[in-house]
Amino acid sequence: MKLKQKCAVITGGANGIGRAVAELFVAEGARIAILDCDRRNGEAAAAALNGRALFLPCDVSDSRQADEALQTAVSHLDTIDILINDAASQLNKPLLETSDEEFRKVLDINLTATFHFTREAAKLMIAHRHPGVIVNFSSTFAFVGSPGYIAYHASKGGVAAFTRAAAIALMPHGIRVNAIAPGTTDTPGLHAGARDTGDEAKGMESFLRLQPLGRFGRPEEIARAVLFLASDDAGFVYGANLLADGGYTII
Ligand SMILES: NC(=O)c1ccc[n+]([C@@H]2O[C@H](COP(=O)([O-])OP(=O)(O)OC[C@H]3O[C@@H](n4cnc5c(N)ncnc54)[C@H](O)[C@@H]3O)[C@@H](O)[C@H]2O)c1
Repeated sequence: MKLKQKCAVITGGANGIGRAVAELFVAEGARIAILDCDRRNGEAAAAALNGRALFLPCDVSDSRQADEALQTAVSHLDTIDILINDAASQLNKPLLETSDEEFRKVLDINLTATFHFTREAAKLMIAHRHPGVIVNFSSTFAFVGSPGYIAYHASKGGVAAFTRAAAIALMPHGIRVNAIAPGTTDTPGLHAGARDTGDEAKGMESFLRLQPLGRFGRPEEIARAVLFLASDDAGFVYGANLLADGGYTII
């Protein structure tokens, strides 16, 4: 077991990749708190994890809710060893159709909340004299362009750059910060992005045509890469954006 006696806070753990991370971390011995705005699936995810998971409803882009949920999680778990910043909005809209408000909202959820949780978790780790690990979620879209997802691209590029800077800033405190950069992975978020094209089935087909492997990633495959970054196996890995994308960015 790679995470025996570790305590992890996972934002976005109610669905998709975050949920796969929650399940894998518990299987690897961790106790976890899932912070998510999806109450129904968050409660179901926690209930399926045999008392080793707590669900706390929270909009990560609301700093008051975020702080309250993080404090509650840490007092329940006693400490925080690992923070996973997974929660995100995958709005699939092209540049000319994206409003300022939509752009700001995506940045608030994907980038500003990642900064906020990183800062607050780091303060707690430092106060507890308990160096830990932070894994952010960037994306292949931090490194390559596409016609849609304009705000999402901007937010994930920000997460990639933020991760490098945070890794340097928190290194003296013994805190390791990295990011996972998933490729196209079959989750509710991917389906939402396909729906934004106006036709979910056609949207999914068009995404599939871009996959060098001829298939999407599975949430469990991304969770394995997150586990690597969160575990001592990655003890010399700092500020990385680990691509797990089935070759999407190498062709
Ligand atoms: N699925 C992909 O193809 C893909 C590709 C690259 C990167 N990613 C990244 O991986 C991560 C997980 O993606 P996914 O596809 O599993 O997403 P998903 O949409 O399936 O799940 C995201 C979770 O975040 C939660 N969430 C969204 N907004 C929130 C908010 N304001 N407050 C609290 N919770 C909120 C949702 O309720 C949901 O449980 C995201 O950071 C995403 O950007 C996904």
